[in-house]
Amino acid sequence: MRSNLDSAATIERLGNLDREHVIHPWVDLGQVHSQEPLIIDRAQGIHVFDIEGRRMIDGMGGMWCVNLGYARKEIVRAIADQAERMCYFSPFGKIATEPAIELAHKLAKYAPSDLSHVFFTTGGSTAVDSAIRFVHFYFNVMGETKRRFIISRENAYHGSTFLAATISGKQADKPFMRFASEIASQLPSPNPYRRPDGMSIDEFCDLCVDQLEQRILDLGPENVACFVAEPLLASGGVIVPPPGYQRRTLEVCRKYGVLYLSDEVVTGFGRLGHVFASKPAFDLEPDIITTAKGLTSGYVPLGAFLVSDRLFQALLERTGKGQFFANGFTYSAHPVACAAGLAVIDIIERDNVLGHVRKWGPYFRDRMDDLLELDLVGDVRGSHFMVCVECVSDRKEKTPCPGEWQVATRIFERCREAGLMVRPMGHLVVLSPPVVVTKSDIDEIVERLRVGIEKVQDELVTEGLWRGE
Ligand SMILES: Cc1ncc(COP(=O)(O)O)c(C=O)c1O
Repeated sequence: MRSNLDSAATIERLGNLDREHVIHPWVDLGQVHSQEPLIIDRAQGIHVFDIEGRRMIDGMGGMWCVNLGYARKEIVRAIADQAERMCYFSPFGKIATEPAIELAHKLAKYAPSDLSHVFFTTGGSTAVDSAIRFVHFYFNVMGETKRRFIISRENAYHGSTFLAATISGKQADKPFMRFASEIASQLPSPNPYRRPDGMSIDEFCDLCVDQLEQRILDLGPENVACFVAEPLLASGGVIVPPPGYQRRTLEVCRKYGVLYLSDEVVTGFGRLGHVFASKPAFDLEPDIITTAKGLTSGYVPLGAFLVSDRLFQALLERTGKGQFFANGFTYSAHPVACAAGLAVIDIIERDNVLGHVRKWGPYFRDRMDDLLELDLVGDVRGSHFMVCVECVSDRKEKTPCPGEWQVATRIFERCREAGLMVRPMGHLVVLSPPVVVTKSDIDEIVERLRVGIEKVQDELVTEGLWRGE
């Protein structure tokens, strides 16, 4: 145990070193010099503890990934055992390891239709990147060499590597960057909350489906390789497309020989009550699925894409010796990460985690709707343990709170004081707790979030920024 004095000195030292040396992902460079890092020190169950020992419910699931909660002995032991037995060997060419083989077998068992071939990567971005490279490779081998365009959606997030960032559609992430724009085409967001005034949800679905078909025709079907879509758009603000959208967009793709990649990096591994949600939740049998995050419950990095037997066999028939799918990483199929993945699936099966999510996910979603009573809350959306609260300054006009209010950051701070970590994104607050939360955890999360939002409402009124409603 550190004394208070030691602890204050340690925190100051770490804060200084952090500012001097660490570049954080998505950091606001304008605040690098003034911002105190929030140092998370340890974690247990659904709680994280900061370096001063303050306990908070992890309403973020790390970053949509710690689905089974922290310090699960079975996962920790699987990681340690594998590291001791054989920490690493090259995955290239014909070399294999037992955990990778067994995990691929398990994933194929849970995947829809004939998605039985697994390419392991190091995380979600590299899974999406590798899958797109596979798509291009496939069409080139098949002699359809003009098929290069990847169609995706505004508000989608597919990762931070060059190709994944190119097809991501969050405009706030675009300034000052370059992208592979010559192969990317983006459609408007399928966000029902922001659909045109007077349009029904069904009409909005028609519009979204027509947009895809029209774009394929505009680009020329012979030029289009793939449509990449999250079943629910996670980081774009938990956008739930209209019912039927996923299935109908697949039908459009099939009509024109365009492949469908379902990006399940967030929606998989229990978050919506399934290992892969595409088929059971959205009646979607895509050609490719990408996964990561919950695959190891965040304990160690791992990602993968799964591709259909149909595509894989077609490829094998056309390729000859000496033709390489020249894509892979030193840490593809890392045996320690695959061992963690196997332990995660064991827990999911043994503890009936999917049944738990199907029972308590809808309760969480309903409880979150209680927050619509608050004047600052314009929309609450999502499914199961993937929910977003959108804050607006005018509910009738659906006007997003202005950026300078920093409304989500304020809510983050007030919730942190109340013992809850939430994810702030501009005027959006995202909740994706470990999926093993109990009823009383859920009630606690919603109440703490309510307190956080109410305090921010009061602040905004006191500061004269908002008149309330
Ligand atoms: C849907 C989706 N795809 C891909 C990624 C990228 O995954 P990673 O951050 O592991 O590279 C993310 C990350 O949040 C995501 O939400």
